[in-house]
Amino acid sequence: MGGHERCEAAAHSGALMNARTQLALLIFTACSAAAQVRSDPATVARGRDLFASSCGFCHGPQAMGTEQAPPLARNRLVFQDQNGEMLEPIIKTGRPSEGMPAFPSLTHAQIMDIASFLHARAREIRGPRVPEEKLLVGDAKAGEAYFKGTGNCATCHSPTGDMKGIANKYSPLILTTTFLTPRPRPVQVKAVLSSGETLTGVLVYADEFVVSFNDASGEYQSLSRSALKSLSIEDPLATHKKQLALYSDDDIHNLLAYLVTLK
Ligand code: HEC
Ligand code: HEC
Repeated sequence: MGGHERCEAAAHSGALMNARTQLALLIFTACSAAAQVRSDPATVARGRDLFASSCGFCHGPQAMGTEQAPPLARNRLVFQDQNGEMLEPIIKTGRPSEGMPAFPSLTHAQIMDIASFLHARAREIRGPRVPEEKLLVGDAKAGEAYFKGTGNCATCHSPTGDMKGIANKYSPLILTTTFLTPRPRPVQVKAVLSSGETLTGVLVYADEFVVSFNDASGEYQSLSRSALKSLSIEDPLATHKKQLALYSDDDIHNLLAYLVTLK
């Protein structure tokens, strides 16, 4: 799974957050609660120093943003990030065309320190937690109907199969973020070259010009799209990403009320 797809997933849920403030707060809380980045003071302090020297000029030393760059202390990527998986790709590759430079020389450990600082800033800003009861206000029957009907969930999931016990696996808050934006899964690529040869693999990066992926033999391929006979890119979570735009607040609450009964 490449950074590109992850950012796209985040962008989708970003749209959701903009639309629904109350929900955004709950998701924020849930995501922060799931955070697995280290939070001990020494790590946070190392991250603060690194951030101040590498990023602070643009994002502000406290990550509150400047005219150069957006705030990160209150940012969906930071909210969603659990193990640095949201932050690492963008820090490594940047978005040069948007003014965010790449930092290829920062090590994984340094990026995790920076993530630790950003998570800490997000916690400071977040303030008191939203109680779970506020999420559990839906109607389980309506949620079940949505799951089996309008939501099409039952075409891929089964309450007695893969969803059995989902309520034991996640707290209601985490369950909400999990069904809204499941953890990224490998995106499958199938490319037919002009020679007729077919390569399959797992997507690393795609834009309108290039596609890169690790092919079935483990080889890294970076191909120009225009040189391909055909290309298919299949994200197993594409339906989930589309669904984000379709939920009403009630749908989400009802679905959650139903999913928490699947013990
Ligand atoms: C030269 C200025 C500059 C520096 C230095 C810089 N950034 Fe950025 N950063 C930006 C800009 C501008 C954007 C917005 C890009 C966009 O709109 O897509 C951005 C975006 C981001 C985003 C994505 C925010 C989002 O909502 O999509 C993250 C995360 C981020 N920067 C982290 C960092 C970190 C961590 C560092 C230090 C290692 C850093 N940046 C250093 C300018 C900078
Ligand atoms: C087109 C197929 C498809 C549809 C439709 C779909 N999902 Fe999913 N869902 C997936 C895939 C793929 C995953 C990733 C899980 C995996 O790899 O097993 C996933 C993951 C999940 C997870 C996380 C499971 C876990 O253990 O982490 C939940 C919860 C979930 N979906 C709920 C829903 C709900 C609720 C709906 C209806 C609104 C829905 N899904 C519709 C394919 C689908």
